[in-house]
Amino acid sequence: MTSTNKPNSTALFKRAINNMPLGVADSYRYWGEENTVFLTSMKGCTITDSDNQTFVDFRLAYGPIILGYRDERIDNAVIDAITNVGTISGFSTGLDSDVVELVKSLCPNIDKMRFSNSGTEAVIGAVRTARGFTKRNKIVVVEGGFHGLHDEVMWKSDVDNWDGDTEKAPEIIPFGGGIPSSTREHQVSVPLNNLAAIDAVFSEHGGDIAAILIEPIMGNCGSIASTQEYMQKLRDICDANGSLLILDEVKTGFRVAKGGAQELYGIYADLTTYAKAMGNGYPVACFGGKAKVMDTISFEKDGVTHGGTYTANMVALSAAKATLTVLKETDALETIEASGKKIQTILSRVFTKFGIEHCFAGPDSMFGVHLGNKVPHNYRDWKQTNSDLYTLFALNLIENGVMLEPDSREPWFICEAHQNIDFNWLEQVAEKSMAAAINAK
Ligand SMILES: Cc1ncc(COP(=O)(O)O)c(C=O)c1O
Repeated sequence: MTSTNKPNSTALFKRAINNMPLGVADSYRYWGEENTVFLTSMKGCTITDSDNQTFVDFRLAYGPIILGYRDERIDNAVIDAITNVGTISGFSTGLDSDVVELVKSLCPNIDKMRFSNSGTEAVIGAVRTARGFTKRNKIVVVEGGFHGLHDEVMWKSDVDNWDGDTEKAPEIIPFGGGIPSSTREHQVSVPLNNLAAIDAVFSEHGGDIAAILIEPIMGNCGSIASTQEYMQKLRDICDANGSLLILDEVKTGFRVAKGGAQELYGIYADLTTYAKAMGNGYPVACFGGKAKVMDTISFEKDGVTHGGTYTANMVALSAAKATLTVLKETDALETIEASGKKIQTILSRVFTKFGIEHCFAGPDSMFGVHLGNKVPHNYRDWKQTNSDLYTLFALNLIENGVMLEPDSREPWFICEAHQNIDFNWLEQVAEKSMAAAINAK
């Protein structure tokens, strides 16, 4: 059991609160005065906090860690690049095309690509390219989807405060202050897997829709996945209306299959964003697609502008080259899937023991855990699950040395290094944590 007495973390928080709003560099890292986590090291699938408590980590920095923390195959490639080549120069190297060609060898949907430094920037680039290509502005997004922290996509369905018994759709609200209402002007939101809703949006706005922007498996909403039929519908309706399909694979890319979610569905986007798993924790991202669409990025009149000082820096590219090479040439993803399956079997045994209805959503490498009797079909369905019990369970797991996000909208992320954990220990901890969660109710 981890200790609630964490003198070093407390001292670090007291210092940090004077230096950063909420005492953290990213607002989602703030877990309250008592529980904000400060780490001293990470290795494999474990993290160690400043009070020397070690956790098996299923949060994995929200997904980028695909092999394990401090994987030498990747770190050595980065050290080699920065020692022998450099970091950035404002010019190109052959490494740019090395990485693009690796991506193309795994993802047949990509002819050409551009790099960026975060998933947010990749989405901005893809949306701008889609608008430049179609000469239209409107973007269709899905309730529960997440596409980064730029104003235009920082509008969400307020399912938390929605009355699920009414026919009314959840209110769309901004993530917070500082987001001008004008940034919603070009956006329409639909519930996932609802064919009639997508038809209605296209009948109303068809000729204005530049793109549908969607996570095929919602990595920020319990891994609730598009059905095959829905994905086909999106593809067909985009083709019929001259709109583009943008698949945001920032979380699923190079994780759920070598070719990402598109390989699983066999349905391909016009533009795709990739980030997290492509660099095993190094900050690299990209977007790409069909040549005729990507070539909208040009110096022609009305050509799309894209770039940035740190774009395609050597740290990012060397990490991406090494990570993608490992993912391409080894059975790392099969190992990850096998561990994910094993962990779901363990959790299922524990929930069944306590008579708790449960189901899993999404692929084994990033599965959502839902306490309810049917897999949610969209974000509104998620509201029917017992997310409060899940949160109590997760908080107890954390107390017992298993790190995860205490919100069932965040999936369990699996990396290659999880194959070495003590699965019996995990089952004991899960059992103890569920008993405590039920007691606390
Ligand atoms: C699907 C998706 N798109 C975009 C982003 C934004 O990526 P970043 O945090 O690297 O800016 C995220 C982040 O979690 C994401 O999950």
